[in-house]
Amino acid sequence: MSKKPKHVAIIMDGNGRWAKKQGKKRYAGHNRGAKTVSKIVEQAAKEKIKYLTLFAFSTENWNRPKDEVNILMKLLVSSLKKEFVKLTENDIRLSSIGNIDSLPKLVKEELSYVKNKTKNNSGMVLTLALNYGGKEEIIDAVKSISDKVKNNIISPEKVDESTIIDHLYTRNLPPVDLLIRTSGEERISNFLLWHIAYAELYFTKTLWPDFTKEDLNEAFRNYYKRERRFGKTSEQLN
Ligand code: FPP
Repeated sequence: MSKKPKHVAIIMDGNGRWAKKQGKKRYAGHNRGAKTVSKIVEQAAKEKIKYLTLFAFSTENWNRPKDEVNILMKLLVSSLKKEFVKLTENDIRLSSIGNIDSLPKLVKEELSYVKNKTKNNSGMVLTLALNYGGKEEIIDAVKSISDKVKNNIISPEKVDESTIIDHLYTRNLPPVDLLIRTSGEERISNFLLWHIAYAELYFTKTLWPDFTKEDLNEAFRNYYKRERRFGKTSEQLN
């Protein structure tokens, strides 16, 4: 049986389809999705998960209609304002990964405010992937390593796994143990490419706005049944 996952990552998918099913506009799905975020973050902290990483906005999401992008940004700011007290009550530290500099000023300000206010919390690290792309993360790492090689700070022969990790946005996060994706889609969509190398993948048909605490616990139960071999044989593990 697998141990408790230390790092759980979630691709929260299906807000738009949820809204469509209800005969509502897409933003209604995002609003409901934000409520799910609040419940799931609380439950993960209760379950003593050390790291929870949520895919909140990808580099590709800028290609959505401008109105939808604006709504998502506003929702992010209002959720951060609303959830801030709950984060503190549950001893959660807020963190982020992605190209934060290019986000709207209000999002950057609120993010930085909540990060600062929660910086001493030590129960769970909640990381929001914002304007995040896994390929971009690796490109940025290669660029900064190349720069250091050029300036004789790193010698090329010494480049190894830890050199790469140290230059990723996710440098302070452990590898992902469990990756959950909702809504029935079974793909990675450029999320945490390096850190999911040995992650257990869990796909559920439930749309993100309908995803409950019980659904999260079901994902954990499923994970506990997996045998994580990391390239070894079953016999070696025993
Ligand atoms: C995918 O649903 C979801 C997103 C692109 C954004 C995730 C955002 C939230 C859950 C709301 C707010 C977030 C936080 C952190 C407070 P989709 O729109 O791609 O759904 P579809 O595939 O059914 O169209």
